[in-house]
Amino acid sequence: MLLLAGCGDGDRAARLKAAGPNPSLDALMRVADADAGARTFGQCLACHTIGKGELDRAGPNLHGIMGKPVAGGSDRFGYTGALKTVGGVWNRPTMDRWLTSPQRFAPGTRMTFAGLSDPLARADVIAYLEREGRE
Ligand code: HEC
Repeated sequence: MLLLAGCGDGDRAARLKAAGPNPSLDALMRVADADAGARTFGQCLACHTIGKGELDRAGPNLHGIMGKPVAGGSDRFGYTGALKTVGGVWNRPTMDRWLTSPQRFAPGTRMTFAGLSDPLARADVIAYLEREGRE
């Protein structure tokens, strides 16, 4: 068991247990793992860069996206009206809803990504986005 600490399903199960039953987003964020989020972010790399000053791809550069206005991450990117009309800023709850289902959050968005159904995976990606913004 100890060998699994820090990676793989053993760690995941322990983190979920620590978050308690029916964990809230806050509870999940307390056990979130930015390194696991970085691995999941591999699915986003097809369309997004995340390094400071990197170019947009099919989607906007995501460096330091947490705390920025929705549809405000990249000055150069042509966002859809669907995303622009949502308003507000990217914080933990809005990012969690977006990553659950982009189409439900902003119907008509061009982000053709089904979403991450696993709440812990979403929390991990949010932890990664937060950490990346500080670097
Ligand atoms: C198939 C390409 C694609 C994939 C895969 C993808 N995205 Fe996107 N993403 C987009 C596009 C296109 C937009 C702009 C949407 C719009 O303008 O409606 C976007 C927008 C965003 C935004 C809003 C940025 C801002 O400036 O407000 C965030 C945050 C985001 N994506 C995160 C992610 C994350 C995290 C993943 C992986 C879990 C991901 N995306 C996967 C294409 C993609």
